[in-house]
Amino acid sequence: MELAIQGKVALITGAGQGVGREIGRVLAAEGARVIINDLFEARARSVADEIGEAGGQAIGLQADVTDIEQVRAMAAAAVGRFGPIDIMINNAGVPAAFYDDENFGYQTFADSPIDKWKQVTDLNFYGCLNCCAAVLPGMIEKRGGRILSIISEAGRIGEAYLAVYSGAKAGILGFSKALAREVGRYCINVNCIAIGATAHEGTKATLDPEATVETDPMLPKRLKHYPIGRGLGRLGRPSDAAAAAAFLVSGRAPFITGQCLSVSGGFSMVS
Ligand SMILES: NC(=O)c1ccc[n+]([C@@H]2O[C@H](COP(=O)([O-])OP(=O)(O)OC[C@H]3O[C@@H](n4cnc5c(N)ncnc54)[C@H](O)[C@@H]3O)[C@@H](O)[C@H]2O)c1
Repeated sequence: MELAIQGKVALITGAGQGVGREIGRVLAAEGARVIINDLFEARARSVADEIGEAGGQAIGLQADVTDIEQVRAMAAAAVGRFGPIDIMINNAGVPAAFYDDENFGYQTFADSPIDKWKQVTDLNFYGCLNCCAAVLPGMIEKRGGRILSIISEAGRIGEAYLAVYSGAKAGILGFSKALAREVGRYCINVNCIAIGATAHEGTKATLDPEATVETDPMLPKRLKHYPIGRGLGRLGRPSDAAAAAAFLVSGRAPFITGQCLSVSGGFSMVS
């Protein structure tokens, strides 16, 4: 099924590696013109080049999504290059499962330092708000748009030892549903996908995407809070998230808004 996004302009945050990179590659392969954002300019440019070499249209733009002025400048630069933004994908965030500290990011709330709360909330929650604020006026003006945020199953069901991250991702979910009600009249769809632990090139230092419990004795420790056998019994791949994301922002999903789709192999089965 062709996705009907040929020529659409899509801005994807945190797309210099991992899930966002794959979303960018898939949308570009479907004919969208993509803006690859990342905090690190070299990463953004490298993915944009990669897409260009594959025959797609992409530019890389550096910006810190936690800074509203940088986000506004990025959105203006994107519009200047490709025209009004049709698709906003809020992907930049902390991949909670694979910090490289000795506890792999898991920490009781009582033990977590206050500066970490702010860091996690700024990136995972305010980053999304900033990007929505920057692109919404243009979408309202042209009476159409798609906003999709990549959250985590942690935000849907709550994960022990990831309390602040869970709260930040849950915040995006509530925000997205409320925003969907506000902007539906302008034909702007707002949705989320909730992914589970996803391994990719950026997690190699701590988790090889190909790792199994046989090849990586540390895997059970790393995944001690992640009951991998609940559903399909494997970690997520960027392609899993990208396929779902591409559908939700495509011309094939015009009547879906205010929803959260789990893409986690059955990690959670909430309705
Ligand atoms: N990988 C997982 O296991 C997993 C699980 C659940 C949810 N998620 C969510 O999926 C999304 C993507 O995860 P990932 O594993 O691809 O992440 P990643 O860390 O591998 O890649 C994220 C990219 O965002 C960039 N970035 C960081 N801070 C930024 C900022 N302030 N402004 C702009 N860019 C910034 C990083 O440089 C990086 O290239 C995140 O929102 C994450 O919370 C990931």
